[in-house]
Amino acid sequence: MARRIKPLIAGNWKMNGLRASKGEVTKLARKLARGGKPACDVLICPPATIVGLLKETAKGSPVAIGGQDCHAAASGAHTGDVSAEMLKDLGARYVIVGHSERRADHGETDKLVRAKAETAHRAGLTAIVCVGETEAERDEGAALKVIRRQLKGSLPDGIAARTTVVAYEPVWAIGTGRTPTTEDVAKVHKEIRKQLVKRFGDEGEKVRILYGGSVKPSNAAELLAVENVNGALVGGASLKADDFYGIVAASA
Ligand code: 13P
Repeated sequence: MARRIKPLIAGNWKMNGLRASKGEVTKLARKLARGGKPACDVLICPPATIVGLLKETAKGSPVAIGGQDCHAAASGAHTGDVSAEMLKDLGARYVIVGHSERRADHGETDKLVRAKAETAHRAGLTAIVCVGETEAERDEGAALKVIRRQLKGSLPDGIAARTTVVAYEPVWAIGTGRTPTTEDVAKVHKEIRKQLVKRFGDEGEKVRILYGGSVKPSNAAELLAVENVNGALVGGASLKADDFYGIVAASA
């Protein structure tokens, strides 16, 4: 029988959010306090500029804070970059690496994503490693092949389920309002689980696999009920506490 894995509902604010956005975290914390202990872990990944502020804001609530990216090096001459150590220093517990927007906008390769995940682990952060096919790759019938390649190249050796999360985000579903069918999500997540178990054995059984791409309060319950979906990585709908809370509530 499949083990029950505590879901993780993670919000990726992308390049949105100013200091005033802490109000949304306060509101979310209040809703969580009123709704009782959530059935899932709750995470917000704001821009690096407000990680420290939101960490302070979330103090005493179940809301964890994470970064959206880190440099592969711990420190050094890398103007404008942020290291995993710096995020950790601000109180972050997680960092997203290899998001498709970074792969596309900054030419990030699987090798670089793996190096980032390794540096995140060295800093004591949990790495959320993102994979997902483009629409063209899906149309060619190459989705599973692409995902296998990304997993192989982007995940460090010897990962532990406690400090590594995989997020499956089909590029064509991000910010489009389109989602794969639950059958398609099940197929991809099953394949990801298979690859994780093949490479990491028992740890691979326990690694959380999140679905991301146009998750909203209205479709969250259906997506989160799919086998091997152990949570969600949410973009647009994580910016407002009401919407995000609706997704958190759907994970129960
Ligand atoms: P949307 O939820 O806005 O589609 O974004 C998904 C995403 O990219 C989260 O990392």
